[in-house]
Amino acid sequence: MCGIIGATGDEGVLALLLDGLERLEYRGYDSAGVALDYGHDLYRARAATGTGSLADLRKVVENVPAGVTAGIGHTRWATHGHPTETNAHPHLDCSGKVAVVHNGIIENWRELAAKLRETGHVLASDTDTEVFAHLVEEEMASGSSLANAVRSSLREVRGAFALAVIAASEPGTIVAARRVSPLVVGMGDGDNPMGLLASDIPALLGHTRRFWVLDDDQVVELRPGQMRVTTLAGKVVEPTELQVDWDIEAAEKGGYPDFMGKEIHEQPRAVADTLLGRLLADDTIGLDELRITPDDLRDIDKVFIVACGSSYHAGLVAKYAIERWARLPTEIDIASEFRYRDPVLDERTLVVGVSQSGETIDTLQAMSEARQWNAKVLVISNVVDSSMARVADGVLYTHAGPEVGVASTKTHLSQIVALELLALYLAQLRGTLPAADARRLFGKLEELPALIETVLAREDDVAAVAGQFTKTRDFFFLGRHVGFPVALEGALKLKELSYLRAEGYPAGELKHGPIALIEPGAVVVAVATRTRLWEKMMSNIAEVRSRGATVLLVANDGDEETAAEADAVLWVPETEPLFAPVVDVVPLQLFAYHLAALHGLDVDRPRNLAKTVTVE
Ligand code: AGP
Repeated sequence: MCGIIGATGDEGVLALLLDGLERLEYRGYDSAGVALDYGHDLYRARAATGTGSLADLRKVVENVPAGVTAGIGHTRWATHGHPTETNAHPHLDCSGKVAVVHNGIIENWRELAAKLRETGHVLASDTDTEVFAHLVEEEMASGSSLANAVRSSLREVRGAFALAVIAASEPGTIVAARRVSPLVVGMGDGDNPMGLLASDIPALLGHTRRFWVLDDDQVVELRPGQMRVTTLAGKVVEPTELQVDWDIEAAEKGGYPDFMGKEIHEQPRAVADTLLGRLLADDTIGLDELRITPDDLRDIDKVFIVACGSSYHAGLVAKYAIERWARLPTEIDIASEFRYRDPVLDERTLVVGVSQSGETIDTLQAMSEARQWNAKVLVISNVVDSSMARVADGVLYTHAGPEVGVASTKTHLSQIVALELLALYLAQLRGTLPAADARRLFGKLEELPALIETVLAREDDVAAVAGQFTKTRDFFFLGRHVGFPVALEGALKLKELSYLRAEGYPAGELKHGPIALIEPGAVVVAVATRTRLWEKMMSNIAEVRSRGATVLLVANDGDEETAAEADAVLWVPETEPLFAPVVDVVPLQLFAYHLAALHGLDVDRPRNLAKTVTVE
C-alpha cells in the first residue's frame, strides 16, 4: 500500500514528483524515492527515515542536474521487506537501466524471483516489486520495446497492483498499468503537455483537471503530449475521461496546523453537502444517482453492510436505522471476515460496501464476492470513480471532499448521513415511513450541520478536559444502542492518534467480563446522551463509579441529572436519537485530537498506519 507518481516532460518533472509525493504520503511514508530519466541514463534517489523520508529525499536530490525527460516516484507503506532504503522504491533491474515503482502486491513474486535467480539475475531487495524490473529487463534483452516488455511481464504476475516503469533506452517514456489497485493518468496544459500518472487525483490537481481512469489490465504509454492506452494484448482502447472540479486548496490545510484539525472543522460542510439535493420538497428522498432501480430495491429482503474501521462503525449505525425505518433485516460484517465465511446471499440481498476511499482491498473483495452470488451491490464512497464504484451496481457518494488526515473524521460523519438517507429511502420505497415522520426526520437531518458547529465552537472546553487525562494510559469507552458505535469510534480515534489503550464496549456487556478490569483509577468514557437506552446506560455508569472509576460523559446540553454522575462532561446538543452519532462522536474526535497533541504526536500521520489499506 503505497503511492506512485510519474511525469514526462521537458522541465519541472522532479518538482512535480516531489510535490505529488507529499500529497500521496497519506498512503504510507516508510520511505520515499524517485528515478529520473536523463535520456539514456537513469538516476535513482531514495530515503527511508519514516515520517522524515520525503524531507530527506528532497535534500538528496537538491542539486541534481537539469535535463530530466521523465521520472517516477514512490512513497511506501511496507508490506514485503522491512522499511529500509534497500527496500525503498524505485527498484532497478540488474543493469540499472530499468526502474519500477509499484503499489499493491505481486503474489507470485517468490516463484518469479527463484526463476530469475536461476537465469542469473541478482535481486537486491526483499520486495515483491523488484521482480518486475527484472522481468522487463529479460523481455527488453530479447528486443521488446518497453511497452511490449511491460505487457508481457504483466501476463506473468498475479495479484493487485498499479505500477510505472521507465527505461534508459526509451527516454521520455513511462509505461504504467493497473490491476485492482488505483491509478489515474492525465495530460498537463500547454503546447507540449506533460504526461502524468498517480495513485490518486489530488496528487496531480495542480497540473491538470482532465483525467483518464484505467480499467484492470490496461496499459498506458505516456510521452510528452501523447498518451496511448492498450489492453494486455496490445489492442488500443479509449479510456474513460473524467473532468474534476475540486479546488487544490481543498486538499491543503487551509490555515489549520494539520489536516485532521481542518477536516474536523469541515464536518458541518461535509454533512450539508452530503444532504444537498437529496431531501426533496415533497418530503421524499431523491437518490436518482443510485443506478439500482426502485423496483430492484423494493424487491430486496435482506441487507448486508460490509466495511472496515471507521466505515464499519458508520455501518453499525445504519443497521439500527434500516431495521427501524425500512423494517429490513440487516446484518453488518467486517469486510475481511465476510468474504471468508460463506455468507448466504442471493439476488434479493442488498450488499452495501462502505468505504471513504473506495479502494480498501477487504471491502472491495467482499463486494466482488457478493456479486458472484448475484446480490445487488451498492457502495457508499467519497471518491468518484473509485475501484469499488466500478465493481458495484450502484453508488451513493458522500460529498466530504478529499480527506488527507489518516484518521477518518469528516468522511465518517458523511457516511453515517449517507447511510441514514439510504435507510429512509428504502423505507420510502417499502411504504414503512409515514409522510409526517419523513417530514419531521428531514427537518432533523437539516439541523445536523448547525449542531456540529455548536460542538466545534466548544473545542477549547474539550481541549481542557483532554488536559485532565494526560497521565491516563487505559480508557474504556461505553455506549448502548447507537451510542455503541460512537463508543467504538471514540476508542479507535484515541488508539490511532494517541497510541493509548482504548476499548469500546456495549455497556450492557460490561458485567459479562470486562467489569473485572474496573478498579480505582480506571477511566470510563460513556456516551450518555438521551437516546433510547439512557436509563440503562446510567445504571451501567453507576456500576463503574461504585468500583472507583473516573467517569467522563458525553451528555446533552442542560442535562444536569446525567452530569451529576460524571467527573467531567463533554456537552452536545440533543437531536433525533438515531441521528445522535453524527453529533455525539464529534467531541470524542476532538478529545483524541487534543490528547494526541498534548502527547506531542503527529495527528495526520500516526505510526504504522496508512490512509488507504490496499493489502489484505
Ligand atoms: C479510521 O480512522 C481509519 N483510518 C480506518 O479505520 C479506516 O476507516 C478504514 O481503513 C477503512 O477505510 P475506507 O473507509 O477507506 O475503506
